Amino acid sequence: MSETLANLLQENRRFEPPAALADAANVKADAYEEADADRLAFWAKQAHRLDWAKEWDQVLDWSNPPFAKWFVGGELNVAYNCLDRHVAAGRGDKVAIHWEGEPGDTRTLTYADLHALTCQAANALADLGVRAGDRVAIYLPMIPEAAVAMLACARIGATHSVVFGGFSADALSGRIQDASAKVVITADGGYRRGKPSGLKTIVDEAVAQCPTIEHVLVVRRTGQEVAWSERDLWWHETVETASTEHEAQPFDAEHPLFILYTSGTTAKPKGILHTTGGYLTQASYTQHAVFDLKPETDVYWCTADIGWVTGHSYIVYGPLSNGATQVMYEGTPDTPHKGRFWDIVDKYGVTILYTAPTLIRTMMKWGDEFPAAANLSSLRVLGSVGEPINPEAWMWYRKNIGHDNTPVVDTWWQTETGAIMISPLPGVTGTKPGSAMRPLPGISADVVDDEGKSVPNGGGGFLVLREPWPSMLRTIWGDDQRFIDTYWSRFPGMYFAGDGAKKDDDGDLWLLGRVDDVMLVSGHNISTTEVESALVSHPSVAEAAVVGATDPTTGQAIVAFTIPRGSVDTAGDAGEALIKELRDHVAKTLGPIAKPRQIMLVAELPKTRSGKIMRRLLRDVAEHRSLGDVTTLQDSTVMDLISDGMKSAK
Ligand code: WT7
Repeated sequence: MSETLANLLQENRRFEPPAALADAANVKADAYEEADADRLAFWAKQAHRLDWAKEWDQVLDWSNPPFAKWFVGGELNVAYNCLDRHVAAGRGDKVAIHWEGEPGDTRTLTYADLHALTCQAANALADLGVRAGDRVAIYLPMIPEAAVAMLACARIGATHSVVFGGFSADALSGRIQDASAKVVITADGGYRRGKPSGLKTIVDEAVAQCPTIEHVLVVRRTGQEVAWSERDLWWHETVETASTEHEAQPFDAEHPLFILYTSGTTAKPKGILHTTGGYLTQASYTQHAVFDLKPETDVYWCTADIGWVTGHSYIVYGPLSNGATQVMYEGTPDTPHKGRFWDIVDKYGVTILYTAPTLIRTMMKWGDEFPAAANLSSLRVLGSVGEPINPEAWMWYRKNIGHDNTPVVDTWWQTETGAIMISPLPGVTGTKPGSAMRPLPGISADVVDDEGKSVPNGGGGFLVLREPWPSMLRTIWGDDQRFIDTYWSRFPGMYFAGDGAKKDDDGDLWLLGRVDDVMLVSGHNISTTEVESALVSHPSVAEAAVVGATDPTTGQAIVAFTIPRGSVDTAGDAGEALIKELRDHVAKTLGPIAKPRQIMLVAELPKTRSGKIMRRLLRDVAEHRSLGDVTTLQDSTVMDLISDGMKSAK
């Protein structure tokens, strides 16, 4: 890839695991050797961490690639593995979920409580005619019923399709129709930014277009008034009156567990299909290995929403299959104040925190005083996921949240991979700020060039996966051909992740974002991430997004949208001076080729509801086009502000 990238890779800070953590770690360095010696035996061993009703005959059937079958002939029940077996082992009184509502109300659910509720929901769904193989849509806020609804589906073999509660009626109805769901589980609303938001209204609008929906099951959360029709049922009248006895039947290892649609930065969303045995094996193992989770002593908190794959694998299936105690929070990080997250860590004594770079950068912008005001000494492992974490944010996270001695695990994976694929192991890996380091044991990731040839250390190219893995997607729901075309055609015999990556001189991996986020400036490949990193390393910059805009002389030119830190003066000449300083700073850091043609100082950046920067819209602005589809944007007013600024800057 680009020569300038060398700069990002000159990162030479390295942080070894604390000795005590390394000594007591769940997974040690020998896991890599074990998996290298016999990958399938390694995964079979991890599958044995679960309870199977029937042992498999074959670990992997790869006779018809890219359609994989894992643990062929095996049978198990996912909900049994997440609940019943812990209760049966005498851990029914252990707290499963410390739930914190945004207004400050709380609930504590033990494993026995969660088991009873899930049995009730399973009985209620069965009474409504939901059978194994049917699809159920779930459109809920971050309340315990979201986990219960998913587990109840898994328990009866229904395939859930969780749709993030921030999505529009159109997005919801499109997903319901694609999966032909029979039932929707929703709530009257949820709390966000101090206000009850409406969910049932959106479901009513969506379901009007969905003839397959027979019932809408509604949890009462906010108590707001909702319209009611014949197909609607209250959760408290249906589920909470059902029997708490339900015997979980085992299902085939390849029985469909869930469909999850990938976030809409592209065209029609893809229904990613995950199945039972392989998915649970890898979600469960990675929870144990990457977070070093000790169910007896840890308090784990993943700040994702259940509507994303992170919420599926690392709020529901990973933690619960391991018998963890976790925190679940309903609302936004700045309600009622910007220290809310750190108060929660303090209150529950959170030991393991898993969050996203966009949140870390937001916290950086808000200021060090907020984490400093809370007692964060309980934390012992910090995780990051969702996009490349630039070294500055990584360092800030370690220093301000991790009191400078807590391992930071940057975890690379995708909705499609189902579970973490590339990450440090907290008790093994000496980490480098900004690098996801190495594929986990049992995972074969590589970086290849245009022709699919493995690049040497120091080289860059495309991230691929060379061997099937247990929690891999099985197909795109209803569209095998699109599955083949999207993931398996760019490089024959390899899974194409769509991300750019680089191997450093030690062979450690640096993820560079989506390949369509790579710019070609005067024949040099420059990743948007490296220019963003350079900008954010300047003390006056809080956040930056970079796009390539068509340019008559250079092919593409770099256009940067930059949020200055709160205290920085940007009025008039001071703003002009800052822009010049930043352009020079990037040129000095990365080389003159990476000097942005234009830098815009902005107040906000356009993000999807999952927090990804929508570079497509910024590209529209930079190329003076009218804006494309903005329906997946979190806050639609952001683009007006940016476009106006662009006009006055011309
Ligand atoms: C894309 C997948 C995996 C759960 C959340 C996102 C980017 C994810 C990292 C990371 C660099 C990352 C990739 C990937 N991504 N984690 N640690 N470093 N990039 O799931 O919505 O399916 O997005 O997120 O570009 O392809 P998703």
